[in-house]
Amino acid sequence: MNKLFIALSCLAAIAGLSCQSKKTAVAEQPDRKWWKEAVVYQIYPRSFKDANGDGIGDLKGIISKLDYIKSLGVTAVWLNPIYSSPNDDNGYDVSDYRNIMSDFGTMADFDELLKGLHARGIKLVMDLVVNHSSDEHDWFKQSRSSRTSPYRDYYHWWNAERGTPPPRYSLFDVNHDAWRYDSLTKAYYLHYFSRKQPDLNWENPKLRKEVYAIMKFWSDKGIDGFRLDAFGFAAKDTTWPVYPKGYESNFSKYYALQPHLHDYLKEMNQEVLSKYDVMSVAEGTGNTYEDAHNMVDADRHELGMAYPFEAVDIAKPDGYSVLHFKQVFSKWDSVFVEKGWLSVFLANHDQARLVSRFGNDKPAFRSLSSKMLTTFILTMRGTPYYYNGDELGMTNAGFTDIKDYRDKATLNEYQHQINIKGDMKLFMKNTEFSCRDNSRTPFQWDGTTNGGFSTGNPWIKVNPNYNTINAAAQESDPNSTLNYFRKAIKLRHDNLVLVYGKYTLLDKDNPDTYAYTRELDGKKLLVLLNFRDHIAAAKTGLDLSKAKVLISNYDQASADGKLKPYEAVVYELQN
Ligand code: NOJ
Repeated sequence: MNKLFIALSCLAAIAGLSCQSKKTAVAEQPDRKWWKEAVVYQIYPRSFKDANGDGIGDLKGIISKLDYIKSLGVTAVWLNPIYSSPNDDNGYDVSDYRNIMSDFGTMADFDELLKGLHARGIKLVMDLVVNHSSDEHDWFKQSRSSRTSPYRDYYHWWNAERGTPPPRYSLFDVNHDAWRYDSLTKAYYLHYFSRKQPDLNWENPKLRKEVYAIMKFWSDKGIDGFRLDAFGFAAKDTTWPVYPKGYESNFSKYYALQPHLHDYLKEMNQEVLSKYDVMSVAEGTGNTYEDAHNMVDADRHELGMAYPFEAVDIAKPDGYSVLHFKQVFSKWDSVFVEKGWLSVFLANHDQARLVSRFGNDKPAFRSLSSKMLTTFILTMRGTPYYYNGDELGMTNAGFTDIKDYRDKATLNEYQHQINIKGDMKLFMKNTEFSCRDNSRTPFQWDGTTNGGFSTGNPWIKVNPNYNTINAAAQESDPNSTLNYFRKAIKLRHDNLVLVYGKYTLLDKDNPDTYAYTRELDGKKLLVLLNFRDHIAAAKTGLDLSKAKVLISNYDQASADGKLKPYEAVVYELQN
């Protein structure tokens, strides 16, 4: 492969083009991987496109939009869970890992989708939810049926005659109690998420084998990767110690990420991942940079890519510090310079909308700030992940009535706040800004009923701004947010320096702008971003007079570092 690349470069040289020994050097890097060079597009199937008019997005809907997906230039799709599920947590409660959720379609639809993606050169990454299953999974039904069931140890049980179990915090439970009493066998089972999401017991080798078989089933079908949901929680301390007061504010330190996590990952790598050309990414990275490294250093043979949360949590209702933002991304880059690989993202299905959290969703700045954030995500080192709808600059719906929310975690927390007589005004204010339902409203395809998402009654309200923000309107506008996204992706694909190049932060203490260079094999790009709604100057000390503008979100890019509101420019610097 590498030899072929060199030969082609030199043939080009004979034909009068320069023989790019520099390019060859990149091509020869032993650790080049398709998933490092990919741009991942995350699709939330429930909200993407409904083909059968039942108000719920489905696989046929995605199939009908394959050409759109291809047109974006993305090279991999990550699908949120599509397995059979009673939908207590929108598919993150799986009742059959080898079947498709009836709301979404059939296995034949899945096969067609996979074929359609592959035919367009797009890889498919599946969500793998194996820290917990649904309580409606057959394993759990068997497990709870009797204390002597062969499936009893697939889950964590605490027999009631031992007294009440030591407190564990549940993220989604109305009472935040992670132990649920089950009268059938007079025992408590553990659920770090909702009551309908009992935690699987990874200490049981039989359970682990079952999971590897499931992974093989999908890998044999030809999928291209796994995103491991909440996997840090799989490794628990099952001596069940009593934790100090307030432990729940740092619960992952206390009751997740125990050292045997790495034994599980190594085994999973040996049994499955190493046998296929699949990418693997675990949600969350642990508590330290070392934790993150230990999951993804290639020589440890565990996972491929880390997915750190630190940056995504920075955005708050009253804004965020650009200095902090830069510091977080620069730190993560620096600790992954030598080894390991990062994901770069600012949004997903668990966060509110990109432009509403990190940009400015007011009409005057929505498109500009979306484009600026797009420029950022697509010019950092690491694999960019982009969440569906953000390419249009879709905004938070910010529902003010709790009845419009669908997320069970939010509804349970609402009830919890009522129970403890919490500040409901504050709760609603935070929910309007940060509830994950904001990013789960239907994709806005056009200006017709329901934004063209469904002819039925959508499972969650469509954002009323679909008349102005939609794909159809943006298709025909060369300056649209959507078309800028396409250009920025092309820029990344055309410039390997944006994938592998060295990152250097400039003008570090500037509180308004973000400036950095990316360098590889003699090529040097400069990225200038203004995160503010006013003019701000980036002081890089670099001579821009001969620099070539590769992309800019204004007709006329700044030539002197004085950036217009939310301006984004990528230059190629001349040596
Ligand atoms: C993380 C997923 O991203 C989220 O949507 C889900 O609710 C929890 N894990 C539980 O599976």
